[in-house]
Amino acid sequence: MASVKEQLLSTVTEPVATGKNKITIVGVGQVGMACAFSILSHHVSNEIVLVDVMADKLKGEMMDLQHGSSFLKNAKINASTDYAASANSVLCIVTAGARQHEGETRLSLVQRNTDIFKGIIPQLVKYSPNTILLIVSNPVDILTYVAWKLSGLPKNRVIGSGTNLDSARFRFLLSQKLNVAPTSCHGWIIGEHGDTSVPVWSGVNVAGVRLRELDEKIGTDKDEEKWNELHKQVVQSAYEVIKLKGYTSWAIGLSVSNLAAAMLRNTNQVHAVSTMIKGLHGVKEEVFLSLPCSLGEDGVTFVVKQKLTTEETELLHKSSKTMNDVQKDLKF
Ligand SMILES: NC(=O)c1ccc[n+]([C@@H]2O[C@H](COP(=O)([O-])OP(=O)(O)OC[C@H]3O[C@@H](n4cnc5c(N)ncnc54)[C@H](O)[C@@H]3O)[C@@H](O)[C@H]2O)c1
Repeated sequence: MASVKEQLLSTVTEPVATGKNKITIVGVGQVGMACAFSILSHHVSNEIVLVDVMADKLKGEMMDLQHGSSFLKNAKINASTDYAASANSVLCIVTAGARQHEGETRLSLVQRNTDIFKGIIPQLVKYSPNTILLIVSNPVDILTYVAWKLSGLPKNRVIGSGTNLDSARFRFLLSQKLNVAPTSCHGWIIGEHGDTSVPVWSGVNVAGVRLRELDEKIGTDKDEEKWNELHKQVVQSAYEVIKLKGYTSWAIGLSVSNLAAAMLRNTNQVHAVSTMIKGLHGVKEEVFLSLPCSLGEDGVTFVVKQKLTTEETELLHKSSKTMNDVQKDLKF
């Protein structure tokens, strides 16, 4: 007797996944799952694959998301410990690795996560040779450099989530102080995602009105209104959230989903992401740091040449030297 499926359906051809907007996420920890959830709930992709070394957790997370597929426009959700499942991904997001312990700097994580990357990046590129790599694991700028070296991909296809999140935190804090929506408060944090990030106070504006035009001391130590406290809070944000709840997840998940949407929808939206900046703003080192970049289906297309002050450029150079000093000692 014919099966129920055969009685119900006359097969013209079995459906196959299109792979047109397939995203692989490596690492199903707090950050990876927040990225997956945000990507699916914002309908950025209808095909995601999760990869991790912890088979049980991986299967559990996959099943939990699959049970929500009818609320996610029937997205296909797969998971495997085998990178073959990631084949033909247009975007691979890497969130795998050890996370910061309370009080631990992002830089001290670096060699531990470099070793983990040696097992991940070549596998991703083997199965998706034309992919874009979006690195999230910390220290994100150095690990983006590591991923670039390990992958052999052109620099436009290797991107770090960088200061997109720091800039979002900054805009939120500006919005709190001004009582204007975060999307209407324009401010950029560039450089390192972390302790030496650079707030571009010279450009902070609402509706084109630069705060520096209203008070030239804004963002400096001489400012009586202490606007620079906002940048100090941005730097402290992750440490504070980790202290309070053990990890950060929702904001980074939303930020990564926002970056993925810009690339998959080929929008050329400008985001602060980590890119290879040698030759820009007088930087001599081969380092990845965040600058405003337009993102499309080839990854980074343009880098916006911001008019930085001497002080801002010096801070960028300082970050670049810090990165280079750490990179020199890495064992590949
Ligand atoms: N760039 C940012 O703005 C930002 C923000 C938050 C967290 N992070 C970073 O993201 C990373 C993940 O954080 P988390 O809180 O999700 O950590 P987590 O410990 O919850 O998850 C890490 C996951 O990686 C997996 N993993 C470890 N080694 C692996 C390997 N070789 N292959 C595949 N998977 C592997 C683990 O099994 C685990 O599921 C950390 O490095 C953290 O510092 C970055």
